[in-house]
Amino acid sequence: MSAGTVASVDKGVDAGLEKVVAAETVLSDVDGANGRLIIRGHDVGDLAARYTYEQAAALLWSGFFTPEPDAETLARDLGAARAAAFKRLEAHLPDLARLGDVEGVRAALAMSPDGDDLATAIDLAATTAVATAAIARLRAGHPAVAPNPALGHAHDLLRMMRGADPAPAEAAALDAYMVTTCDHGLNASTFVARAVASTRAGLGSAVIAALSALKGPLHGGAPGPALDMLDAIGSPANAEAWITAALDRGDRLMGFGHRVYRIRDPRADVLRRAVSSLPATSGRLALAQSIETVILARLAANKPSRKLETNVEYYTALLLEALAIPRGSFTCLFACGRVLGWIAHAREQLATGRLVRPASVYVGPRPREAA
Ligand code: ACO
Repeated sequence: MSAGTVASVDKGVDAGLEKVVAAETVLSDVDGANGRLIIRGHDVGDLAARYTYEQAAALLWSGFFTPEPDAETLARDLGAARAAAFKRLEAHLPDLARLGDVEGVRAALAMSPDGDDLATAIDLAATTAVATAAIARLRAGHPAVAPNPALGHAHDLLRMMRGADPAPAEAAALDAYMVTTCDHGLNASTFVARAVASTRAGLGSAVIAALSALKGPLHGGAPGPALDMLDAIGSPANAEAWITAALDRGDRLMGFGHRVYRIRDPRADVLRRAVSSLPATSGRLALAQSIETVILARLAANKPSRKLETNVEYYTALLLEALAIPRGSFTCLFACGRVLGWIAHAREQLATGRLVRPASVYVGPRPREAA
């Protein structure tokens, strides 16, 4: 422990802010003790089973915009916004793709005018999807595919990623994924979105900042490495030795542990069901489940004082892999869903919150006292 940390603990600093309540929200409730997630009055599993992306957007954004968004109008406007985003970005796509997946999407978002209205919100959701797909295609050496505004958002996103129409079950699985991950309390990226919105910088600024926070491996960057781990383990027979060596090195196992959940993340089971609805995933799913069992046992033995369970990212990894989405795009796909929540929180902060400005305790040197 560094001297700075000792001073911080002595002064009661809560470095991870876990005990700080920084907002009142009508958007979502993360009940870590009971493993329950409620999004605007719906259990996450019900929402994923019954709502499309457009319906989830209308639900999350309801009360925060004038005119009040409805799912049907949103579907139409999102389609038109995807087409407009593609037209605006097309000539810049090679440069955006060279930046990297998240960095390219972030730069694409920065090319839109900032604002606080519903049209800006729709453009941000549309641009995130169009840039994610086009950049993934270019980075894989394929030409970008233009949107089809008549399709549902999830269906069109998967079609733009693949260059071919997905099966209905595949489009439904991606839709369920994006609805499952559309909002989740004051996670790091959402908190960032609210802090930026509190300065009245605009929705675009809030979303770009939130995406930058999502990128980190402790937040939305975990699913790619979770698959790397599955590949490195390879078979259930290798699991015990591989996991023990990783924990002995002090590595974190990606897709496990959570700041709030002390029992299983409810989204993990929603996504596991979505993966098992897809064809040709049974072998991979069985491998992942047997490795998960070993990991949970090892984590429990290693750290009995801290409940470490499967989080959303483990089954996100399996679902996106089953949909043939490249690993480099996983964080951007997460952003395609979560952008709905970032926008809702930014609007809620503007409507009900204050400028976010926490205090700090100075532990550095002071000027010498005059003699
Ligand atoms: N593997 C191994 N050990 C772990 C893991 C893990 N996945 N998660 C936590 N631990 C250990 C820590 O090393 C720490 O041990 P220590 O007390 O000996 O230092 C102890 O458990 C407590 O960990 P904290 O860092 O206090 O837990 P925190 O609440 O800060 O971490 C986090 C939450 C960042 C998600 C963590 O569990 C982690 O790094 N998981 C792996 C990355 C991951 O899956 N991220 C996605 C999270 S979901 C999302 O953001 C969408």
